[in-house]
Amino acid sequence: MSVAPRAGNGKITVPDIQSRKFNSSSPATNKKITCLTAYDYPTARLLDEAGVEILLVGDSLGMVVLGYDSTLPVTLEEMLHHTRAVRRGTKRALLVADMPYGSFHVSIDESIRNAMRLVKEGGAEAVKIEGGERRLELISRLVEAEIPVMGHVGLTPQSINALGGFHVQGKSADAARQLERDARAVESAGAFSVVLESVPREVAARITDKLHIPTIGIGAGPDCDGQVLVFHDLVGLTIGHKPKFARQYANLEAEISHAAEAYCNDVRDGSFPSDAESFHSPAELREQLLARQRT
Ligand code: KIV
Repeated sequence: MSVAPRAGNGKITVPDIQSRKFNSSSPATNKKITCLTAYDYPTARLLDEAGVEILLVGDSLGMVVLGYDSTLPVTLEEMLHHTRAVRRGTKRALLVADMPYGSFHVSIDESIRNAMRLVKEGGAEAVKIEGGERRLELISRLVEAEIPVMGHVGLTPQSINALGGFHVQGKSADAARQLERDARAVESAGAFSVVLESVPREVAARITDKLHIPTIGIGAGPDCDGQVLVFHDLVGLTIGHKPKFARQYANLEAEISHAAEAYCNDVRDGSFPSDAESFHSPAELREQLLARQRT
């Protein structure tokens, strides 16, 4: 079982995030919310220690870690496995786990049971659910069951087949209005924040202005209350298409390739391991071994 650390000592809680809604009357005191995805223990530790406020075990796990070509195959068991690892590395950040495709589509009761597993067994402090108006009842039932919910509207990758690809959403007036209805529905159902993914900056700004809960943008421009990126995009480990909005802060792909090539070269030419990187027998035994070699 994985347990979230207690509040205090700088631990970020759901109410802390809720209170970070941008306040236009005192813009100087506002700080944007920082969120990154994480899928394993060492990364979670580094991001937590770097001060990232929300760690999201996204179902992007399927694409960036497990090698699936979409998020659809990700299972609840896979999410649990990775959420537990992230839990072990997270002391301060709020830990949110994605509900994967199929884990909240059959019935409300089953969805609540699945979300509870992410909390009880995974140590998540909140779950993220893709979808807007359609999820109204589910979100309010989860909140009633003491499970904080982060909504997710706009480009929802679990709807890839219905959307026909990873396209920017809310580009027409009708689509923008629907997006706003979705975000409002998520808020009225009791979500504590909402991710806006791949929507025009102007639409995200309007929704951010209308809602009382914080918006966390990804490909939604700078006016949201916070930002989220996929960790692999941030550090240059993206495989395949790199979205326009994903600013890369490091090039780990090149670093890792160089390290692996250098290792192979050193092993092949015998320079790894060196004597200093080897263990040695005690002097007495060494003498005996050398003497035996001579006879
Ligand atoms: O799965 C994920 O990583 C996400 C973020 C991109 C918001 O949903």
